[in-house]
Amino acid sequence: MLPVTYQETVDLMHRRLDGLLPDFEIQAKAELVVAINRLKRERNALILGHNYMEPALYHCVADITGDSLELCRRAATAEADILVFCGVEFMAETAKILNPSRKVLIPSKKAGCSLASSITASDVRRLREQFPGVPVVAYINTYAAVKAEIDICCTSSNAAKIVAQLPGDQVIFIPDEYLARNVAQATGKQVIFPETNLAEVMKGSSSKDSLQKVFIGWHGKCEVHDLFTVEDIRQVRAQYPDVVVLAHPECPPDVVAASDFSGSTSAMIAYVQKVAAPRYLLLTECSMADNIIADNRDKEVLRLCSHRCPHMAQITLEDTLAALQEDRYEIHLEESLRLKAKRSIDRMLELS
Ligand code: 13P
Ligand code: SF4
Repeated sequence: MLPVTYQETVDLMHRRLDGLLPDFEIQAKAELVVAINRLKRERNALILGHNYMEPALYHCVADITGDSLELCRRAATAEADILVFCGVEFMAETAKILNPSRKVLIPSKKAGCSLASSITASDVRRLREQFPGVPVVAYINTYAAVKAEIDICCTSSNAAKIVAQLPGDQVIFIPDEYLARNVAQATGKQVIFPETNLAEVMKGSSSKDSLQKVFIGWHGKCEVHDLFTVEDIRQVRAQYPDVVVLAHPECPPDVVAASDFSGSTSAMIAYVQKVAAPRYLLLTECSMADNIIADNRDKEVLRLCSHRCPHMAQITLEDTLAALQEDRYEIHLEESLRLKAKRSIDRMLELS
């Protein structure tokens, strides 16, 4: 249970965040943290925080933290009257889809996602026309209108498992090109795109069967993970030969291949906790490195903070307090759309 008195809150913040935030920032944020935790209790609200939230929010305000899959599961069964989703819009929408009788709030209207905005419902309908009968899997980083058109969702932590359970060898896998390439590689498939010239592909192929084992991808990209390069890894390894490199599966395939581990945000957190190495390089949103260091003081976590997620960074303590004070910004979904979108998430939860 998070404290609600000022002194207990300052003590907690020092215990969790010393060395990560300067003292004056801890003092400045403590009043906001107290106000949020009090109001949360008064209003029977629950705060769900994605692993990318800034350290004070992640360690001192969020009741539940996790990756997309964990937060989705917890949102589905949450009993609080109000769910404040400290993450991006598609995540808050997913919470509303799964638990419609709760009031779901997101503290900023600007918390989008480059992957979610890379594809529309009509794009999915066109793909279905072009590839009739092929099952459509969409990354959870999509909006409800897209989820309503697909067969099943996946997250970075269950994508390979979901795809392995689908009938047939062809899968439309949208919208993240790199996640598609990374999962295809791990499951022995190749990736083509709606515009691929199949005759050209066949020329370079030794067997006709190879075209049966394909992912039909889309060119969506995470604007943050797209920026990491193999050269970044080479330079860090040159300076720290013992470094263990972790890359999110939204990174380009050559970056994932040059890393020591790839997994969802929670899988990366668990990996640092489990492995005994002294030093790690985290190729993902850099606030997560601070959140990991807070729980692993004996380990050094390197990060490239020039690559930030501008959408996750919209969620501040100030806006989280305002969300609770003013019921803003509430997620509303049209019921028939919600029900259609829910089918694809329910199927994912059944299969993962
Ligand atoms: P996770 O499901 O791994 O938390 O990923 C969500 C995300 O948006 C990463 O950029
Ligand atoms: Fe979307 Fe990338 Fe930000 Fe994750 S890090 S929310 S995929 S833009």
